[in-house]
Amino acid sequence: MDELNLKADEAVARFLDERFAVSQELGGVFFLLELLDTAIRTSDQELMDKPNLPENEKLDMVQALDRQNVMMQLYPRYIDTLLPLITEVAERTKREVRVLELASGAGGLAFALAETAEQKNLDVRITASDIVPAFIEEGNGIAAKKKLAVSFRLLNAFAMTELEMSEFDIVVMAQSLHHFTPGQLAVIIAQSARYATTAFVGIDGYRSMLLTGGVPLIASLQGIGSFTLDGLTSARKFYSELELDIISEIATGRREHRVECLWPFSVLTVRF
Ligand SMILES: C[S@@+](CC[C@H](N)C(=O)[O-])C[C@H]1O[C@@H](n2cnc3c(N)ncnc32)[C@H](O)[C@@H]1O
Repeated sequence: MDELNLKADEAVARFLDERFAVSQELGGVFFLLELLDTAIRTSDQELMDKPNLPENEKLDMVQALDRQNVMMQLYPRYIDTLLPLITEVAERTKREVRVLELASGAGGLAFALAETAEQKNLDVRITASDIVPAFIEEGNGIAAKKKLAVSFRLLNAFAMTELEMSEFDIVVMAQSLHHFTPGQLAVIIAQSARYATTAFVGIDGYRSMLLTGGVPLIASLQGIGSFTLDGLTSARKFYSELELDIISEIATGRREHRVECLWPFSVLTVRF
């Protein structure tokens, strides 16, 4: 995994260098767009990931993100993306479909998916996970209150060794791909292939100038400075479709994946 981590980081760095060189040769608008893309890129860590930020403040931030997701009606769109895969696994295995969500934050997607599964009579067991203990405690409390089939567990997304082989069918990660380096993301995908039978689905913001302005603008509506700043940092870090493509190929050694634009998102589906 250490080797994979390094290899993916190097490959993406090389791709960006080569793309810069090619755009320089082409000149004009190609070079201008490349300069803009390079200027907005950052490897800064989001405030919500800083180890010294108190957990209650991290919780405030993921709850703000959850409110934003609800306001923008994103969960039904994410669920529409996931349902065909869930149905496919259900029909193939004739048993419950086991979904693991990584970096689930406040758990809004997991709850929305559980509610949809209940309405549609789909047998789905959802495990939401995150690296912040306060999110797990809060999530399990809400799940118990709402009587939803979701459980939360503490899990570092790039150290999943505590899971059992094929313990899950589908691994999902929403709005968090950019929180990880290319190498870490490759490790996450490679580990998902060990612990899930069918697929990894990553949904994240589409890398574009429009979202670099739009994401912090929408985040600012809640009047939380740190959340707005994280919106800007995140949009500057979103992966382009080609970067996701390269990372997936290095992680799996195959091309059994596809990257689609579901504006304003990129959806990466890696089949195992
Ligand atoms: C932008 S939030 C997304 C939360 C949620 N998926 C959503 O869409 O609202 C990023 C999440 O990644 C989590 N995270 C960061 N590093 C992680 C790691 N190594 N393992 C698991 N989760 C991690 C953070 O705690 C945070 O909840």
